[in-house]
Amino acid sequence: MKRLIYLAVALIIAGLALQSHTNDKQTEKNENQKNGTKVLVCYFSATGTTEKAARRIAEITGGTLHNIEPAKLYTYADLNWRDSLSRSYVEMHNRDFRPALKDSVTDMSDFSVVFIGYPNWWNTHPTIINTFIEANDLQGKTVIPFMTSGGSNIFNSENELHEAYPGIKWAKGLLMNNVSDDDIKDWLKENGLR
Ligand SMILES: Cc1cc2nc3c(=O)[nH]c(=O)nc-3n(C[C@H](O)[C@H](O)[C@H](O)COP(=O)(O)O)c2cc1C
Repeated sequence: MKRLIYLAVALIIAGLALQSHTNDKQTEKNENQKNGTKVLVCYFSATGTTEKAARRIAEITGGTLHNIEPAKLYTYADLNWRDSLSRSYVEMHNRDFRPALKDSVTDMSDFSVVFIGYPNWWNTHPTIINTFIEANDLQGKTVIPFMTSGGSNIFNSENELHEAYPGIKWAKGLLMNNVSDDDIKDWLKENGLR
């Protein structure tokens, strides 16, 4: 009998904890929607890691996800950075190269905050990110980069983006390797989003 009572109490506590977690997330979403901030979370992901990071940001901000899809998907062989003839190697060693997008333009008019996420390739962003930025009107929006990597940081990519697109209102980026939800929330707060 005692055991049953313990079990019932444990279940009630677990239920309350879950409820409070869900309410927290809901409050954040409502906050962003209330102050008129409509968030678009764009990402390019060749092997799924950046996509997972993008989903976390969208979940926390209540943002809309947008997959930056190449017209031609990258195969395993295309991603071989050790092969100087591979597609990624060739594209990344000519920084003027602009890989084509599947959908050329995204409807940005609704959104005031645009996240752009990508994997680190050769210590910077893949050139398809340049294609995406140049194909879309980001004027007047706050644009926030995020990255996943095998260990390299986001700084070089951020510097290159600031230099290439000085007309864009860039906010502080985040390397999303091993970050907690609290790290993400602190970053959003720094950028005035919470
Ligand atoms: C072509 C290529 C180049 C890469 N270059 C780097 C690099 O310079 N530094 C680094 O830390 N990781 C590098 N990586 C690892 C990726 O940044 C990392 O695995 C990333 O999380 C993959 O994201 P995705 O699954 O969204 O494509 C490289 C990966 C590829 C395919």
